[in-house]
Amino acid sequence: MQQKREHFGSRFAVIAAMVGSAVGLGNIWRFPYILGEYGGAAFILVYIAASLILALPIFYAESIIGRRSRSDTFGAMRKLAPGTPWRWAGLVTIVSPMLVLSYYSVVGGWSVEYLFKSLSFSFTDVPAEEIPGFFGHFISSPWQPILTHTAFMAAVVFIVLGGVSKGIEKFSKPAMPALFILIVAIAVYSLTLPGAWAGVTYLVKPDFSRLTADACAAALGQAFFSMSLGVGAILTYSSYVKREENLMVSGVGTAVCDLLFALIAAFAVIPSVFAAGLQPSGGPSLVFETLPYIFHRMGEGLPLVSTLVSAVFFITILAAALSSAISMLEVGVAFLSDERGFKRRNATLLLGFLCWAVGVLCSLSFGPLSGFHILGNSIFDFLDHLCSDWLMPLGGLIFTLFVGWKMSRADVRDEFTNGGTVNVKLFNAVYFLMRFVAPVGILVVFVTNLVM
Ligand code: TRP
Repeated sequence: MQQKREHFGSRFAVIAAMVGSAVGLGNIWRFPYILGEYGGAAFILVYIAASLILALPIFYAESIIGRRSRSDTFGAMRKLAPGTPWRWAGLVTIVSPMLVLSYYSVVGGWSVEYLFKSLSFSFTDVPAEEIPGFFGHFISSPWQPILTHTAFMAAVVFIVLGGVSKGIEKFSKPAMPALFILIVAIAVYSLTLPGAWAGVTYLVKPDFSRLTADACAAALGQAFFSMSLGVGAILTYSSYVKREENLMVSGVGTAVCDLLFALIAAFAVIPSVFAAGLQPSGGPSLVFETLPYIFHRMGEGLPLVSTLVSAVFFITILAAALSSAISMLEVGVAFLSDERGFKRRNATLLLGFLCWAVGVLCSLSFGPLSGFHILGNSIFDFLDHLCSDWLMPLGGLIFTLFVGWKMSRADVRDEFTNGGTVNVKLFNAVYFLMRFVAPVGILVVFVTNLVM
């Protein structure tokens, strides 16, 4: 018997939920350091192009599959293409969020540590110049980062177990605008620091000589990571979207908010990096080394101000990270309990434990295991690249191929245009992007990656 499926109440609610999943550590922690590694302004241009030409069509593909089938990833494929092996392709999209969660939780743990450091005045008791050094010290110690990773993962498991996700959603909704205002304020402030303009030049003056195939793959990977694509998250959310809702609008709305967040975060972090005399290619530690330094400078002589700004910042980051992390664990838990007959509780504990264990290895790869490399990368970087540059685009490829080549054109058109009432003129262009441009773009990136 068909149950009546829940719906988002309004267009605002749809976009808010999708932006909630999209905006997270990907925008504030990952984007600035990836763009710093791959050379600034030219990378930003490729990133914007990748978001609009490749990622957005995949967003639409996921939206169409989700709303058409009104199910989760695995079930959607089974419903729309019964008796075909497509649903097994959907399995990829269940493994990747679990792997992402493993190292996402480590970074979540770093935020926990930095929140405590802020509250205990550790940052204001020393000269600003010493703050960037804290991070290397913290992260290379064996126990402390594992402890905070454990705390973060425990919170994720606890929330998924207890179904208190309503509470977290309630909290993260006001946290998002707060985070946005904070980031804008930090960006504006950082521009007033001596030396910061070199960072602005770095962000706006493209140096195309640094634009390698590797950088293009990283841009695509970042776009996927940031918009939570290729893992069925948008697909599942779309299954709660009403028939009358305009999919085009929710897609553009989410993409624009997500891009804006990332760009402003870059303008908050990169000029600060230059002002602090650091290198933009500093890797995953970048945000943690520079922002506390900026907070210290902001409240020069007024430790309470620094402490307050810093604590509020890390609390909101934690809210954003938690709400993203919950959605990752939920993908695996829903699969094991709906399709494999696990009790929800057991599925949550099992997957939480596995992700925690992999996360411990990631955490150690900054300290005791730093000499251990997989294909030239530390465990942490290897997993991150595996997921963002390979598994998530692969998931996206599966979704666009499904919509472009497996579903009938009439069904896709009907879903995208709400039965021929909206976006009719745009449909052909979007269909073309989903059918040819996005799959070919992803394949080209894969092939270049393989031969390089
Ligand atoms: N998009 C989120 C961010 O930018 C991360 C995220 C949320 C995610 N849900 C996901 C990543 C599912 C992979 C899978 O931080």
